[in-house]
Amino acid sequence: MSFTDWSVTWTTSNAEVNSREKAQEAQRIRLFAPFAPLRGYLDCALSSGLLCKATFSLLAATALLAGNAPALEVTGLRCEYLDAPRGMDVAQPRLSWQIRSGRRGERQTAYQVLVASTETRLRNNQGDLWDTGPVASDQSIQVAYGGRALVSRMRCHWKVRVWGRNGAASSWSAPASWTMGLLAPDDWQAKWIADAAQAPKPAVLFRKTFELDSRVERATAYVTGLGLYELRINGRRVGENLLAPEWTSYSNRVQYQTCDVTGLLQRGANALAAVVGQGWFMGRLMGIAGDAYGAFPRFLLQLEVELADGRRQLIVTGPGWQSTTEGPIRAAGIYDGETYDARLENARWDTPGLEPPGWKPVRVLEPPPARLVWQRNEPIRVTGELKPVSLAEPKPGVYVFDFGQNMVGWCRLKASGAAGTTVTLRHAEMTNEDGTLYTANLRGAPQVDRFILRGAGEETFEPHFTYHGFRYVELTGQGRRPRLDSLVAKVIHSAAPEAGRFECSDPAINQLMRNILWTQRANLMGCPTDCPQRDERFGWMGDIQAFSQTAIFNMNLAAFLAKWLQDVRDDQAADGRFPDYAPHPGDPNAGASGAPAWADAGVIVPWRVYQNYADTRLLADHFDAARRWIDYIRRLNPELIWAKGRGNDYNDWLNGDWIKQKDWPPKGGSVPNEVFATSFFAHSAELVGRMAEVLGRKDEALRYRGLAEKIRTAFNEKFVTPDGRIQGDTQAGYALALDFDLLPPELRPKAALRLVEGIRNYHGHLSTGIQTTHRAMFELTRCGYNDTAWQLLTNRTFPSWGYMLDNGATTIWERWDGYVKGRGFQDPGMNSFNHWAFGAVGEWVWRNIAGINPDDAGPGYKHFVIHPRVCPGLAWARASYDSIHGPISSEWRIERGTFKLNIRVPPNTTASVFVPTAEPDAVTEGRTQAANAPGIELRRSTEPGAAHYEVQSGRYSFSAPVPSL
Ligand code: BGC
Repeated sequence: MSFTDWSVTWTTSNAEVNSREKAQEAQRIRLFAPFAPLRGYLDCALSSGLLCKATFSLLAATALLAGNAPALEVTGLRCEYLDAPRGMDVAQPRLSWQIRSGRRGERQTAYQVLVASTETRLRNNQGDLWDTGPVASDQSIQVAYGGRALVSRMRCHWKVRVWGRNGAASSWSAPASWTMGLLAPDDWQAKWIADAAQAPKPAVLFRKTFELDSRVERATAYVTGLGLYELRINGRRVGENLLAPEWTSYSNRVQYQTCDVTGLLQRGANALAAVVGQGWFMGRLMGIAGDAYGAFPRFLLQLEVELADGRRQLIVTGPGWQSTTEGPIRAAGIYDGETYDARLENARWDTPGLEPPGWKPVRVLEPPPARLVWQRNEPIRVTGELKPVSLAEPKPGVYVFDFGQNMVGWCRLKASGAAGTTVTLRHAEMTNEDGTLYTANLRGAPQVDRFILRGAGEETFEPHFTYHGFRYVELTGQGRRPRLDSLVAKVIHSAAPEAGRFECSDPAINQLMRNILWTQRANLMGCPTDCPQRDERFGWMGDIQAFSQTAIFNMNLAAFLAKWLQDVRDDQAADGRFPDYAPHPGDPNAGASGAPAWADAGVIVPWRVYQNYADTRLLADHFDAARRWIDYIRRLNPELIWAKGRGNDYNDWLNGDWIKQKDWPPKGGSVPNEVFATSFFAHSAELVGRMAEVLGRKDEALRYRGLAEKIRTAFNEKFVTPDGRIQGDTQAGYALALDFDLLPPELRPKAALRLVEGIRNYHGHLSTGIQTTHRAMFELTRCGYNDTAWQLLTNRTFPSWGYMLDNGATTIWERWDGYVKGRGFQDPGMNSFNHWAFGAVGEWVWRNIAGINPDDAGPGYKHFVIHPRVCPGLAWARASYDSIHGPISSEWRIERGTFKLNIRVPPNTTASVFVPTAEPDAVTEGRTQAANAPGIELRRSTEPGAAHYEVQSGRYSFSAPVPSL
């Protein structure tokens, strides 16, 4: 299969409507890319049906043959990681672009950025805000804006052109834009408002009517709430964001959203209306007693209207607004679900004209202490829809829909019946053997939606301020069998763009990778959560710490993680402890802070963001917090063994000792707490040292790297014997020590052997938990035991990923044996079917089967490593990853003893390529000996069984003899 066929074939499972459309769009764009000048005409022709795809492909081929492919093209313009951010409060936003070229070795030698205050100026090449002129530089990402000072409400239009290796310029890119938000506290004229009764339960409706006596030129709404809000103007919903403002450390920071609402306003009478529910701000959050942050919902809106006659009109929340709690959303909680009484709908509530009865003036509040900040991450949105695959009736009148996929979001219901009929939807991940819902594992999260019909024919419902983890939905109360299409499931999560696509010849691995992706979709709700269904759904830091690189391969998470790392900093305890979860809705100083591996996410995750996106600004913002965390541990543990101040020892959570199975060893999986904690201490100290190095903070670099060295020495002295045995003799201990490079070089092979023996002792299985499973896999491969790693990946016996698959998993389970056919469920007190931590093995697949690896030598994929491994029985793999520098791909297959590797290295980047072979001299690229091919340099291989090349940008086709396994 060639590169161009893949995108249409790899999304084959599930009803991933949006994903498939995206893939087709990607395919279309890829086809169009070579001849941008024709694109407008062809887009139009395609959409009007004048030109079929086949004809188009022919045209494309002809154009390419005719040599129309531009040598250099600039595309993918992003500002602060987003396509067209609105309402930013960043003084010097960072710009990135990507370069496309058909030429090998293409790279940027200079760039020019123009930023203009109007589209016309930009079109006329007048960069009145910023014109860099040609800048001799190869920097094409994270270019900090350096033009005229950006002020509130400014609109900025920009484009870029680059010069290539031979000095020729590209054309200007297509234009992109960003807008500024309200930068100074004084810009906010709006006041926070609440319902006079300040009732916590029913959602509050707010409303205000006003007149506009001229045509609207432009209107912008700056809006947020405490609780969750939906804004409507003149009867229409504003934007597509859901569950806004997303969970932040609300006592410190509340994100506001900026919406262009020009098209929703009219000359004459207008109505602004909002409904505000509890969300994360109020109500129950895990075990936290009382309201997490506040007791009643609040709302804030500033609408700025520019009229055609040049006047400006400001409509803000404050006196003059009305509210009621008599709206249809009677109750809504993140865990609880929503109760919606359609009989209380009033069609006039969000339209101008007569005031509906029963509304009262709002209460105007003092501003909360939290800072208002822009929403820097992709909003939560519907990203796809699933249709049910079956409908059963396990008990009379009880109907269970199966969506065929464990997922997160909610259902749109179509129902009809007499007024007052309550149709109830219950959501569950699994069913009991009798087909009824299994809900015990939801613990205190009922996730039940109740819709009370108005009695007006077919009615349509969707909840607003909740979300559910489910594959099965039970419908009761309608009084008759529903149709299969009564429900459609909406997939909802932070809409970070998907970045990675992977497929290989082993269907089980493909299913595993799909399950990992679905689990990721399920756990991105403004912050990275542990699970999406039970009464928890917290930003547990240990889980994302383990999963972060897999997550980054799957999606572009730069903006999402930058937002969340601010939550982490906001909730750092005063003594330097990072929280165990962020946001931390309790008091981080009092507890649930400072746990080894969990709090260490405060160091490890920003480093990952740096490795993948070269985000040095994030490191600079985060450095002090990271340093304070290390200082805290050190202060309490001058001997450098982390014995004191560990907070909660979650240890290597869910390691083998948690498994209760006949013949399974009851002990031997759990690594001693001090070994576990000290490993993370050494690793985090090392990373803080490296952060300091990147930031040019030389003294601190020396200090923290020196500290890390001393911790390693203390670790070896206290825990490691001269023959490489680590205290506890656990798989986990070896995985940590190897992965964090804690051991002297001579002990590495010995420790690796102990790891392998440890696996043998468990009859070829892992006894590791969520912090060491993926690390054991990496180190097996790194230390020359890839066959063992492969065997673990493909095991079907318990505990293994294959065992989950064989027992029906469509997402990653919290426990290896969450459910076993014939045996039933694990302990319902902790048995999520949508937990990503064991899915961190995705990183191993990306790094070793796809073979794509970021490299600290060129963060942000300026330089990267392609290193696929030959695994027994695996015939082919193909993967692509949209790096910040552009799309990378790696596609290989083994044919009659020949390893054929096709790769794509984006312009302006370089890569190290390791081609698996026993005969380096026989490796070819195209028709030439690889070492002599253009764009390639042979290196002395440090990897046995692989030929090492350094390659410039471009596409390459390597062939090499491999011994068949
Ligand atoms: C979560 C875990 C989390 C842990 C802390 C659990 O309830 O679901 O994934 O890391 O608590 O040990």
